[in-house]
Amino acid sequence: MGDEIPDEGNRKIIDVEYVEKDLPESKVRTVEKKLINPLILPRSGPNPAGHARVVTVTNQKGGVGKTTTVINIAAQLGLRGYKVLVIDADAQGNCATGLGVDKRLVKATTRDLILEPETAIQARHQTAVEGVHMIVGDRSLVGMDQELLRQLGRERRLIEALEPLSPHYDLILIDTPPSLGIVTINALVASQGLLVPVQTEYFALEGLAMLAGTIREVRNLFSPSLGVDGILLTMYDQRTLLNVQVANELRDTYGTLVIDPPIRRNIRLAEAPAHGVPIHLHDPTSHGGMDYLSVTEELVKRWGIDSE
Ligand SMILES: Nc1ncnc2c1ncn2[C@@H]1O[C@H](COP(=O)(O)OP(=O)(O)O)[C@@H](O)[C@H]1O
Ligand SMILES: [Mg+2]
Repeated sequence: MGDEIPDEGNRKIIDVEYVEKDLPESKVRTVEKKLINPLILPRSGPNPAGHARVVTVTNQKGGVGKTTTVINIAAQLGLRGYKVLVIDADAQGNCATGLGVDKRLVKATTRDLILEPETAIQARHQTAVEGVHMIVGDRSLVGMDQELLRQLGRERRLIEALEPLSPHYDLILIDTPPSLGIVTINALVASQGLLVPVQTEYFALEGLAMLAGTIREVRNLFSPSLGVDGILLTMYDQRTLLNVQVANELRDTYGTLVIDPPIRRNIRLAEAPAHGVPIHLHDPTSHGGMDYLSVTEELVKRWGIDSE
């Protein structure tokens, strides 16, 4: 006969004795139920020394002016001599059109940047504005959630990819899709500050409450100093009572976080991309051109890059 197989059924399990001890009163933590105001948005922290400030333009709503804001603020900064890198993290890829980059000539995109961070340097393209480079987004960004599902550290891919690039720029501006997928999370994790375009219509505050929840989660898990650089009112029309009311409500709730002036509704902003140029090359004296100019001046101060 061979070795006896131990009979599982007869094995004894010896329990460790457990004696419950009363904790002294002083050690008992009183759990206070913290009431979190769903509308609170934390302010952002300072720039990392020697690196570009990374700012994500975000709002989970589509059509609020995110892409228009990225294109025109990046262009305005470029015209002022700043070095800016635009990263289009939206599958629609509209930043390329608006900044005069021919998508047919593009070989590496934001998808490559996230999947293979070492391609970062070659993935950049020159735009219609000197000093403004960009990494193009395209349809291949759809499906990234599935592709990264089993990857460890999948939220930190973009931050890794930006590491070698960021010493060469004053600002890295990221455009995002109107959804909270892995690509948007990568952008939030890589950022110091957020710029939030908001249309002054119903549900503006609901959208911001949702964003506040997202920021809280990202701060808890990844970057404790992530915060908001500014809320930008877009497509504003002072003749519309609802616009004025919502703008006032936003200013009452968020104070100086709301950037002045609002960006007025202006057809010139909507037509500029068809010409492959930002507003400051298309029609700088239009309402849209002047508003984005003022907003950029304010942001330059908030971003602490005005002394350069
Ligand atoms: N201030 C504005 N006045 C008029 N049209 C605008 C303005 N801002 C954006 N648009 C237009 O509104 C549409 C949505 O803007 P877009 O920047 O693409 O929003 P998002 O990126 O949030 O989806 C685009 O056609 C754009 O040209
Ligand atoms: Mg967009």
